[in-house]
Amino acid sequence: PGIVPYVNEPFTDFSQPENIRAMEAALSKVKAELGREYPLYIGPNTIVTDAKITSINPGNVSEVIGYVSKADQALAEQAMQAALQTFETWKRVPAHERAGYLFKAAALMRERKHEFSALMILEAGKNYVEADVDTAEAIDFMEFYAREMIRLSETNERQPLVKIPGEDNKLTYIPLGVGIVIPPWNFPLAICVGMTTAAIVSGNTVLLKPASTTPVIAHKFVALMREVGLPDGVINFVPGSGAEVGDYLTTHPKTRFISFTGSKEVGLRINRLAAETAPGQIWIKRVVAEMGGKDGVIVDETADLDAAAAAIVASAFGFQGQKCSAGSRAIVVEQVYEQVVEKVLALTAALRVGLPEQNGQVGPVIDETSYNRILAYIEIGKQEGTLLAGGGKVDGNGYYIQPTVFGDVSGKARIMQEEIFGPVLTIAKAKDWQEAIAIYNDTEFGLTGSYFSTSEERIAAALELVHCGNLYINRKCTGALVGVHPFGGFNMSGTDSKAGGYDYLLLFTQAKLTSRKS
Ligand code: SER
Repeated sequence: PGIVPYVNEPFTDFSQPENIRAMEAALSKVKAELGREYPLYIGPNTIVTDAKITSINPGNVSEVIGYVSKADQALAEQAMQAALQTFETWKRVPAHERAGYLFKAAALMRERKHEFSALMILEAGKNYVEADVDTAEAIDFMEFYAREMIRLSETNERQPLVKIPGEDNKLTYIPLGVGIVIPPWNFPLAICVGMTTAAIVSGNTVLLKPASTTPVIAHKFVALMREVGLPDGVINFVPGSGAEVGDYLTTHPKTRFISFTGSKEVGLRINRLAAETAPGQIWIKRVVAEMGGKDGVIVDETADLDAAAAAIVASAFGFQGQKCSAGSRAIVVEQVYEQVVEKVLALTAALRVGLPEQNGQVGPVIDETSYNRILAYIEIGKQEGTLLAGGGKVDGNGYYIQPTVFGDVSGKARIMQEEIFGPVLTIAKAKDWQEAIAIYNDTEFGLTGSYFSTSEERIAAALELVHCGNLYINRKCTGALVGVHPFGGFNMSGTDSKAGGYDYLLLFTQAKLTSRKS
Protein backbone atom coordinates (compact mmCIF):
# COMPACT_ATOMS: atom_id res chain seq x y z
CA PRO A 1 0.00 0.00 0.00
CA GLY A 2 1.07 3.56 -0.62
CA ILE A 3 2.30 5.67 2.25
CA VAL A 4 -0.01 8.55 3.09
CA PRO A 5 1.57 12.00 3.10
CA TYR A 6 3.04 13.19 6.37
CA VAL A 7 0.87 15.34 8.64
CA ASN A 8 1.61 16.48 12.18
CA GLU A 9 -0.06 14.60 15.00
CA PRO A 10 -2.92 16.75 16.33
CA PHE A 11 -2.73 18.02 19.91
CA THR A 12 -5.34 17.03 22.46
CA ASP A 13 -7.84 19.73 23.42
CA PHE A 14 -7.89 19.75 27.21
CA SER A 15 -10.70 22.28 27.33
CA GLN A 16 -12.89 19.24 26.61
CA PRO A 17 -13.76 17.50 29.90
CA GLU A 18 -13.64 14.05 28.28
CA ASN A 19 -10.00 14.60 27.37
CA ILE A 20 -9.17 15.60 30.93
CA ARG A 21 -10.92 12.43 32.10
CA ALA A 22 -8.99 10.33 29.61
CA MET A 23 -5.71 11.76 30.90
CA GLU A 24 -6.76 11.15 34.50
CA ALA A 25 -7.53 7.54 33.62
CA ALA A 26 -4.09 7.19 32.02
CA LEU A 27 -2.50 8.71 35.12
CA SER A 28 -4.25 6.16 37.34
CA LYS A 29 -3.06 3.35 35.11
CA VAL A 30 0.53 4.59 35.15
CA LYS A 31 0.42 5.23 38.91
CA ALA A 32 -0.52 1.61 39.50
CA GLU A 33 2.73 0.65 37.77
CA LEU A 34 5.07 2.97 39.67
CA GLY A 35 8.09 1.65 41.51
CA ARG A 36 8.84 -1.20 39.12
CA GLU A 37 12.32 -2.29 38.10
CA TYR A 38 13.53 -1.86 34.55
CA PRO A 39 16.38 -3.76 32.90
CA LEU A 40 19.06 -2.95 30.36
CA TYR A 41 18.83 -4.40 26.86
CA ILE A 42 22.09 -5.47 25.28
CA GLY A 43 21.81 -7.44 22.04
CA PRO A 44 19.48 -10.36 22.81
CA ASN A 45 20.03 -10.04 26.56
CA THR A 46 17.82 -8.45 29.19
CA ILE A 47 20.13 -7.55 32.04
CA VAL A 48 19.29 -6.61 35.62
CA THR A 49 22.06 -4.96 37.63
CA ASP A 50 22.37 -4.44 41.38
CA ALA A 51 23.20 -0.80 40.86
CA LYS A 52 20.08 1.20 40.04
CA ILE A 53 19.08 4.67 38.97
CA THR A 54 16.11 5.73 41.11
CA SER A 55 13.77 7.92 39.12
CA ILE A 56 11.51 10.12 41.23
CA ASN A 57 8.62 12.49 40.62
CA PRO A 58 10.07 16.03 40.79
CA GLY A 59 6.64 17.33 41.75
CA ASN A 60 6.27 14.90 44.66
CA VAL A 61 9.74 13.71 45.57
CA SER A 62 8.63 10.89 47.84
CA GLU A 63 7.09 9.12 44.85
CA VAL A 64 9.40 6.70 43.07
CA ILE A 65 8.71 6.32 39.35
CA GLY A 66 10.97 3.33 38.91
CA TYR A 67 14.30 1.68 39.55
CA VAL A 68 16.35 1.37 36.39
CA SER A 69 19.33 -0.91 36.00
CA LYS A 70 22.57 0.91 35.48
CA ALA A 71 25.35 0.01 33.08
CA ASP A 72 29.02 0.23 33.98
CA GLN A 73 31.98 0.19 31.61
CA ALA A 74 31.99 -3.60 31.24
CA LEU A 75 28.32 -3.60 30.25
CA ALA A 76 28.86 -0.61 27.95
CA GLU A 77 31.58 -2.63 26.23
CA GLN A 78 29.20 -5.59 25.85
CA ALA A 79 26.63 -3.25 24.36
CA MET A 80 29.21 -1.88 21.93
CA GLN A 81 30.07 -5.42 20.77
CA ALA A 82 26.37 -6.23 20.35
CA ALA A 83 25.79 -3.05 18.34
CA LEU A 84 28.85 -3.70 16.13
CA GLN A 85 27.69 -7.22 15.40
CA THR A 86 24.11 -6.17 14.69
CA PHE A 87 25.27 -3.38 12.39
CA GLU A 88 26.56 -5.98 9.93
CA THR A 89 23.02 -7.26 9.34
CA TRP A 90 20.93 -4.17 10.08
CA LYS A 91 22.76 -2.03 7.50
CA ARG A 92 21.59 -4.47 4.81
CA VAL A 93 17.92 -4.41 5.81
CA PRO A 94 16.11 -2.46 3.07
CA ALA A 95 15.23 1.12 3.96
CA HIS A 96 11.47 0.61 3.65
CA GLU A 97 11.66 -2.34 6.04
CA ARG A 98 13.61 -0.27 8.58
CA ALA A 99 11.04 2.50 8.15
CA GLY A 100 8.29 -0.06 8.74
CA TYR A 101 9.32 -0.46 12.39
CA LEU A 102 8.94 3.30 12.88
CA PHE A 103 5.51 3.34 11.26
CA LYS A 104 4.36 0.49 13.49
CA ALA A 105 5.76 2.09 16.63
CA ALA A 106 4.17 5.44 15.73
CA ALA A 107 0.78 3.76 15.31
CA LEU A 108 1.02 2.00 18.68
CA MET A 109 2.23 5.13 20.44
CA ARG A 110 -0.74 7.00 18.97
CA GLU A 111 -3.10 4.39 20.41
CA ARG A 112 -1.51 4.70 23.85
CA LYS A 113 -0.78 8.37 23.63
CA HIS A 114 -2.08 9.42 27.04
CA GLU A 115 -0.18 6.66 28.77
CA PHE A 116 3.10 7.98 27.42
CA SER A 117 2.08 11.52 28.37
CA ALA A 118 0.95 10.47 31.84
CA LEU A 119 4.33 8.91 32.55
CA MET A 120 6.02 12.18 31.56
CA ILE A 121 3.65 14.15 33.79
CA LEU A 122 4.88 12.03 36.68
CA GLU A 123 8.54 11.56 35.76
CA ALA A 124 9.41 14.95 34.22
CA GLY A 125 6.87 17.27 35.85
CA LYS A 126 5.06 18.30 32.67
CA ASN A 127 1.50 19.60 32.68
CA TYR A 128 -1.06 17.93 30.42
CA VAL A 129 -0.49 20.15 27.40
CA GLU A 130 3.30 20.02 27.61
CA ALA A 131 3.25 16.23 27.96
CA ASP A 132 0.75 15.81 25.12
CA VAL A 133 2.87 17.97 22.82
CA ASP A 134 5.93 15.89 23.70
CA THR A 135 4.18 12.63 22.79
CA ALA A 136 2.79 14.14 19.58
CA GLU A 137 6.30 15.23 18.60
CA ALA A 138 7.65 11.74 19.27
CA ILE A 139 5.02 10.30 16.92
CA ASP A 140 5.85 13.01 14.35
CA PHE A 141 9.55 12.22 14.42
CA MET A 142 8.91 8.54 13.66
CA GLU A 143 6.43 9.30 10.88
CA PHE A 144 8.70 11.95 9.39
CA TYR A 145 12.05 10.13 9.52
CA ALA A 146 10.50 6.90 8.22
CA ARG A 147 9.28 8.74 5.12
CA GLU A 148 12.53 10.62 4.80
CA MET A 149 14.56 7.41 4.80
CA ILE A 150 12.37 5.97 2.08
CA ARG A 151 12.78 9.13 0.03
CA LEU A 152 16.52 9.16 0.60
CA SER A 153 16.81 5.57 -0.54
CA GLU A 154 14.50 5.60 -3.51
CA THR A 155 14.99 8.83 -5.32
CA ASN A 156 17.74 10.96 -6.67
CA GLU A 157 15.59 14.04 -6.48
CA ARG A 158 17.55 15.40 -3.57
CA GLN A 159 20.80 15.55 -5.50
CA PRO A 160 20.13 14.91 -9.17
CA LEU A 161 23.43 14.05 -10.80
CA VAL A 162 24.59 15.65 -14.03
CA LYS A 163 24.18 13.10 -16.80
CA ILE A 164 26.95 12.24 -19.23
CA PRO A 165 26.81 9.72 -22.09
CA GLY A 166 28.14 6.22 -21.51
CA GLU A 167 27.81 6.13 -17.75
CA ASP A 168 25.18 5.25 -15.21
CA ASN A 169 25.85 7.21 -12.00
CA LYS A 170 24.18 6.93 -8.66
CA LEU A 171 24.54 8.43 -5.24
CA THR A 172 23.52 6.19 -2.32
CA TYR A 173 23.32 7.17 1.33
CA ILE A 174 24.80 4.45 3.48
CA PRO A 175 24.89 4.32 7.29
CA LEU A 176 27.88 5.23 9.43
CA GLY A 177 28.10 2.46 12.03
CA VAL A 178 27.54 2.40 15.78
CA GLY A 179 26.30 5.62 17.33
CA ILE A 180 25.98 6.79 20.92
CA VAL A 181 22.67 8.55 21.53
CA ILE A 182 22.52 10.82 24.56
CA PRO A 183 19.15 12.58 24.76
CA PRO A 184 18.02 15.18 27.31
CA TRP A 185 15.41 14.96 30.05
CA ASN A 186 13.38 18.00 28.99
CA PHE A 187 11.71 16.34 26.00
CA PRO A 188 12.28 12.90 27.48
CA LEU A 189 10.16 11.16 24.89
CA ALA A 190 10.19 13.35 21.76
CA ILE A 191 13.89 14.08 21.55
CA CYS A 192 14.88 10.61 22.74
CA VAL A 193 12.67 9.07 20.05
CA GLY A 194 13.76 11.54 17.37
CA MET A 195 17.48 11.10 17.93
CA THR A 196 17.26 7.31 18.23
CA THR A 197 14.95 6.61 15.32
CA ALA A 198 16.76 8.97 12.94
CA ALA A 199 19.95 7.04 13.61
CA ILE A 200 18.46 3.54 13.29
CA VAL A 201 16.21 4.17 10.31
CA SER A 202 19.33 5.34 8.48
CA GLY A 203 20.82 1.88 9.07
CA ASN A 204 22.98 2.50 12.12
CA THR A 205 22.85 0.64 15.40
CA VAL A 206 22.94 2.58 18.65
CA LEU A 207 23.70 2.61 22.32
CA LEU A 208 21.02 4.69 23.96
CA LYS A 209 22.04 6.32 27.22
CA PRO A 210 18.93 8.08 28.50
CA ALA A 211 18.98 11.06 30.83
CA SER A 212 19.35 9.85 34.41
CA THR A 213 16.32 11.85 35.59
CA THR A 214 13.94 10.36 32.98
CA PRO A 215 15.03 6.77 32.28
CA VAL A 216 11.59 5.18 32.73
CA ILE A 217 9.92 6.99 29.82
CA ALA A 218 13.00 6.15 27.70
CA HIS A 219 12.55 2.52 28.72
CA LYS A 220 8.90 2.67 27.69
CA PHE A 221 9.99 3.76 24.21
CA VAL A 222 12.60 1.00 23.94
CA ALA A 223 10.00 -1.53 25.10
CA LEU A 224 7.69 -0.29 22.34
CA MET A 225 10.39 -0.82 19.72
CA ARG A 226 10.88 -4.36 21.03
CA GLU A 227 7.14 -4.92 20.86
CA VAL A 228 7.03 -3.99 17.18
CA GLY A 229 9.77 -6.53 16.55
CA LEU A 230 12.82 -4.36 16.02
CA PRO A 231 15.70 -6.84 15.87
CA ASP A 232 17.78 -7.26 19.02
CA GLY A 233 20.93 -5.17 19.14
CA VAL A 234 19.68 -2.30 16.98
CA ILE A 235 18.87 -0.23 20.06
CA ASN A 236 20.95 -1.18 23.08
CA PHE A 237 19.61 0.43 26.23
CA VAL A 238 22.41 1.44 28.59
CA PRO A 239 21.41 3.94 31.26
CA GLY A 240 24.40 5.03 33.28
CA SER A 241 26.42 7.93 34.49
CA GLY A 242 27.90 10.42 32.04
CA ALA A 243 31.30 10.29 33.73
CA GLU A 244 31.48 6.50 33.59
CA VAL A 245 29.48 5.24 30.62
CA GLY A 246 29.21 8.46 28.59
CA ASP A 247 32.93 9.20 28.52
CA TYR A 248 33.85 5.57 27.95
CA LEU A 249 31.64 5.31 24.89
CA THR A 250 32.52 8.77 23.55
CA THR A 251 36.22 7.87 23.53
CA HIS A 252 35.67 4.30 22.27
CA PRO A 253 37.56 3.58 19.01
CA LYS A 254 34.53 1.82 17.49
CA THR A 255 32.13 4.68 18.11
CA ARG A 256 31.34 6.20 14.72
CA PHE A 257 29.13 9.06 15.84
CA ILE A 258 27.70 10.69 18.92
CA SER A 259 24.29 12.31 18.84
CA PHE A 260 23.85 14.52 21.87
CA THR A 261 21.22 16.98 23.11
CA GLY A 262 21.84 18.82 26.35
CA SER A 263 23.90 21.56 27.91
CA LYS A 264 26.67 23.52 26.25
CA GLU A 265 29.18 22.31 28.85
CA VAL A 266 28.50 18.63 28.20
CA GLY A 267 28.26 19.15 24.44
CA LEU A 268 31.66 20.81 24.30
CA ARG A 269 33.16 18.11 26.45
CA ILE A 270 31.81 15.40 24.13
CA ASN A 271 33.12 17.31 21.14
CA ARG A 272 36.57 17.56 22.70
CA LEU A 273 36.71 13.90 23.76
CA ALA A 274 35.42 12.75 20.38
CA ALA A 275 38.12 14.73 18.57
CA GLU A 276 40.88 12.57 20.07
CA THR A 277 41.74 9.54 17.92
CA ALA A 278 41.79 6.38 20.01
CA PRO A 279 44.25 3.57 19.17
CA GLY A 280 42.68 1.40 16.47
CA GLN A 281 40.19 4.07 15.40
CA ILE A 282 39.94 4.39 11.60
CA TRP A 283 37.55 7.32 11.16
CA ILE A 284 36.86 10.83 12.32
CA LYS A 285 33.93 10.62 14.73
CA ARG A 286 30.95 12.68 13.87
CA VAL A 287 29.36 14.76 16.61
CA VAL A 288 25.81 16.02 16.29
CA ALA A 289 25.18 18.32 19.23
CA GLU A 290 22.09 20.29 20.09
CA MET A 291 22.97 22.53 22.97
CA GLY A 292 21.57 25.51 24.81
CA GLY A 293 20.03 28.83 24.03
CA LYS A 294 19.54 32.29 25.42
CA ASP A 295 16.55 32.89 23.25
CA GLY A 296 14.48 35.97 23.25
CA VAL A 297 11.40 37.81 22.12
CA ILE A 298 11.94 41.26 20.58
CA VAL A 299 9.07 43.75 20.66
CA ASP A 300 9.07 47.02 18.76
CA GLU A 301 6.68 49.94 19.26
CA THR A 302 4.49 49.00 16.28
CA ALA A 303 3.74 45.53 17.66
CA ASP A 304 0.47 44.08 18.91
CA LEU A 305 1.45 44.38 22.56
CA ASP A 306 -1.10 41.91 23.93
CA ALA A 307 0.04 39.23 21.53
CA ALA A 308 3.67 40.04 22.31
CA ALA A 309 3.15 39.84 26.08
CA ALA A 310 1.32 36.52 25.75
CA ALA A 311 4.15 35.14 23.62
CA ILE A 312 6.78 36.37 26.09
CA VAL A 313 5.06 34.59 28.97
CA ALA A 314 4.40 31.38 27.03
CA SER A 315 7.98 31.29 25.73
CA ALA A 316 9.51 32.00 29.14
CA PHE A 317 7.44 29.76 31.39
CA GLY A 318 6.29 26.81 29.26
CA PHE A 319 7.56 23.69 31.06
CA GLN A 320 9.05 26.02 33.67
CA GLY A 321 11.44 27.50 31.13
CA GLN A 322 13.24 24.18 30.78
CA LYS A 323 13.50 24.23 26.99
CA CYS A 324 16.53 25.06 24.90
CA SER A 325 14.01 27.10 22.90
CA ALA A 326 12.73 28.98 25.97
CA GLY A 327 12.41 32.74 25.58
CA SER A 328 14.36 33.58 28.71
CA ARG A 329 14.88 37.14 27.47
CA ALA A 330 12.51 39.81 26.25
CA ILE A 331 13.92 42.90 24.59
CA VAL A 332 11.43 45.72 24.34
CA VAL A 333 11.69 49.09 22.68
CA GLU A 334 11.67 51.95 25.22
CA GLN A 335 8.50 53.58 23.93
CA VAL A 336 6.35 50.55 24.82
CA TYR A 337 8.52 49.04 27.57
CA GLU A 338 6.30 49.97 30.51
CA GLN A 339 3.15 48.79 28.76
CA VAL A 340 4.64 45.44 27.79
CA VAL A 341 6.09 44.88 31.27
CA GLU A 342 2.71 45.58 32.83
CA LYS A 343 0.98 43.07 30.55
CA VAL A 344 3.68 40.46 31.13
CA LEU A 345 3.36 40.86 34.89
CA ALA A 346 -0.42 40.51 34.77
CA LEU A 347 -0.15 37.28 32.78
CA THR A 348 2.61 35.98 35.03
CA ALA A 349 0.59 36.68 38.17
CA ALA A 350 -2.22 34.56 36.76
CA LEU A 351 -0.01 31.47 36.35
CA ARG A 352 -0.95 28.72 38.75
CA VAL A 353 1.96 26.77 40.25
CA GLY A 354 0.95 23.25 41.13
CA LEU A 355 1.24 19.51 40.96
CA PRO A 356 1.61 18.30 37.35
CA GLU A 357 -0.84 15.43 37.79
CA GLN A 358 -3.46 18.02 38.75
CA ASN A 359 -2.42 19.92 35.65
CA GLY A 360 -0.80 22.87 37.45
CA GLN A 361 0.23 25.35 34.76
CA VAL A 362 3.71 25.75 36.21
CA GLY A 363 5.17 22.60 37.74
CA PRO A 364 8.45 21.70 39.39
CA VAL A 365 11.91 21.91 37.90
CA ILE A 366 13.58 18.62 37.20
CA ASP A 367 15.83 17.96 40.20
CA GLU A 368 17.63 19.35 43.18
CA THR A 369 20.71 20.40 41.23
CA SER A 370 18.59 22.43 38.81
CA TYR A 371 16.53 23.82 41.64
CA ASN A 372 19.59 25.10 43.49
CA ARG A 373 21.20 26.43 40.32
CA ILE A 374 18.07 28.36 39.31
CA LEU A 375 17.61 29.79 42.82
CA ALA A 376 21.26 30.92 42.75
CA TYR A 377 20.65 32.67 39.41
CA ILE A 378 17.63 34.40 40.93
CA GLU A 379 19.94 35.79 43.63
CA ILE A 380 22.36 36.97 40.91
CA GLY A 381 19.40 38.57 39.15
CA LYS A 382 18.50 40.51 42.27
CA GLN A 383 21.92 42.17 42.03
CA GLU A 384 21.73 42.74 38.29
CA GLY A 385 18.21 44.06 37.79
CA THR A 386 14.88 44.88 39.37
CA LEU A 387 12.86 41.93 40.63
CA LEU A 388 9.36 42.41 39.21
CA ALA A 389 7.71 39.06 39.97
CA GLY A 390 8.45 35.84 41.83
CA GLY A 391 11.97 35.55 43.15
CA GLY A 392 11.97 32.38 45.21
CA LYS A 393 10.71 28.92 45.94
CA VAL A 394 7.15 27.71 46.31
CA ASP A 395 6.16 25.32 49.09
CA GLY A 396 5.39 21.78 48.12
CA ASN A 397 6.94 18.35 48.21
CA GLY A 398 8.93 19.08 45.07
CA TYR A 399 11.20 21.49 43.26
CA TYR A 400 8.80 24.37 42.74
CA ILE A 401 10.03 27.85 41.86
CA GLN A 402 7.91 30.95 41.28
CA PRO A 403 7.76 32.28 37.75
CA THR A 404 10.28 35.08 38.13
CA VAL A 405 10.68 38.29 36.12
CA PHE A 406 13.53 40.79 36.20
CA GLY A 407 13.38 44.19 34.53
CA ASP A 408 15.85 46.93 33.62
CA VAL A 409 18.64 44.48 33.00
CA SER A 410 21.63 45.42 30.88
CA GLY A 411 22.55 43.28 27.88
CA LYS A 412 25.83 42.18 29.44
CA ALA A 413 24.30 40.98 32.72
CA ARG A 414 24.84 37.30 33.49
CA ILE A 415 21.09 36.70 33.53
CA MET A 416 20.99 38.10 29.96
CA GLN A 417 23.92 35.95 28.81
CA GLU A 418 23.83 32.59 30.60
CA GLU A 419 21.28 29.86 30.10
CA ILE A 420 19.36 29.41 33.37
CA PHE A 421 16.98 26.66 32.19
CA GLY A 422 14.27 27.57 34.65
CA PRO A 423 11.27 29.88 35.08
CA VAL A 424 13.25 33.10 34.98
CA LEU A 425 12.53 35.86 32.48
CA THR A 426 14.83 38.82 32.00
CA ILE A 427 13.51 41.94 30.29
CA ALA A 428 15.80 44.53 28.74
CA LYS A 429 14.95 47.93 27.33
CA ALA A 430 16.27 49.06 23.95
CA LYS A 431 16.19 52.60 22.60
CA ASP A 432 14.92 51.44 19.21
CA TRP A 433 14.37 48.30 17.17
CA GLN A 434 17.90 48.26 15.78
CA GLU A 435 19.35 48.31 19.26
CA ALA A 436 16.88 45.61 20.30
CA ILE A 437 18.18 43.32 17.56
CA ALA A 438 21.77 44.12 18.54
CA ILE A 439 21.01 43.15 22.16
CA TYR A 440 19.31 39.96 20.99
CA ASN A 441 22.34 39.00 18.90
CA ASP A 442 24.83 39.76 21.64
CA THR A 443 25.09 36.27 23.16
CA GLU A 444 27.16 33.22 22.32
CA PHE A 445 24.00 31.28 21.45
CA GLY A 446 21.64 31.46 18.48
CA LEU A 447 18.78 29.00 18.77
CA THR A 448 15.33 30.60 18.68
CA GLY A 449 14.01 34.13 18.54
CA SER A 450 10.79 36.01 17.96
CA TYR A 451 10.29 39.44 16.48
CA PHE A 452 7.02 41.28 17.13
CA SER A 453 6.17 44.13 14.77
CA THR A 454 3.57 45.30 12.29
CA SER A 455 6.11 47.12 10.15
CA GLU A 456 6.90 45.23 6.95
CA GLU A 457 10.27 46.98 6.55
CA ARG A 458 11.36 46.07 10.04
CA ILE A 459 10.16 42.51 9.70
CA ALA A 460 12.17 42.26 6.49
CA ALA A 461 15.21 43.64 8.30
CA ALA A 462 14.70 41.36 11.29
CA LEU A 463 14.46 38.28 9.06
CA GLU A 464 17.92 39.08 7.85
CA LEU A 465 19.58 40.45 10.99
CA VAL A 466 18.33 38.32 13.88
CA HIS A 467 20.91 35.54 14.02
CA CYS A 468 19.31 32.30 15.14
CA GLY A 469 18.36 28.93 13.74
CA ASN A 470 14.62 29.32 14.33
CA LEU A 471 13.29 32.84 13.90
CA TYR A 472 9.58 33.41 14.36
CA ILE A 473 7.64 36.55 13.49
CA ASN A 474 4.71 37.58 15.70
CA ARG A 475 4.53 34.27 17.57
CA LYS A 476 6.22 32.55 20.49
CA CYS A 477 9.72 31.10 20.14
CA THR A 478 8.94 27.61 21.46
CA GLY A 479 6.95 24.78 19.95
CA ALA A 480 8.71 23.94 16.69
CA LEU A 481 6.74 21.35 14.72
CA VAL A 482 8.41 18.41 13.04
CA GLY A 483 8.65 18.90 9.30
CA VAL A 484 7.22 22.42 9.59
CA HIS A 485 9.94 24.15 11.59
CA PRO A 486 13.19 22.15 11.30
CA PHE A 487 14.83 22.84 14.64
CA GLY A 488 18.39 23.73 15.62
CA GLY A 489 20.61 26.74 16.08
CA PHE A 490 23.86 28.54 15.49
CA ASN A 491 27.04 29.23 17.43
CA MET A 492 27.12 27.63 20.89
CA SER A 493 23.61 26.30 20.35
CA GLY A 494 25.09 23.34 18.52
CA THR A 495 26.37 21.85 15.31
CA ASP A 496 23.79 23.55 13.10
CA SER A 497 21.77 20.38 12.73
CA LYS A 498 18.05 20.59 12.00
CA ALA A 499 15.96 18.00 13.78
CA GLY A 500 12.70 17.32 11.98
CA GLY A 501 14.07 18.66 8.72
CA TYR A 502 15.09 17.31 5.34
CA ASP A 503 18.82 17.44 6.10
CA TYR A 504 18.72 15.57 9.37
CA LEU A 505 19.22 12.00 8.12
CA LEU A 506 22.26 13.11 6.16
CA LEU A 507 23.98 13.53 9.52
CA PHE A 508 23.71 9.79 10.13
CA THR A 509 24.70 8.67 6.65
CA GLN A 510 27.55 9.02 4.19
CA ALA A 511 27.11 9.29 0.45
CA LYS A 512 28.59 6.69 -1.85
CA LEU A 513 28.90 7.46 -5.53
CA THR A 514 28.83 4.55 -7.90
CA SER A 515 29.65 5.03 -11.56
CA ARG A 516 29.12 2.29 -14.07
CA LYS A 517 30.16 2.26 -17.71
CA SER A 518 27.18 1.53 -19.88
N1 SER B 1 11.64 21.76 19.66
C1 SER B 1 11.33 22.36 20.91
C2 SER B 1 10.70 23.70 20.76
O1 SER B 1 10.71 24.25 19.70
C3 SER B 1 12.57 22.52 21.77
O2 SER B 1 13.34 21.38 21.79
O3 SER B 1 10.21 24.22 21.72
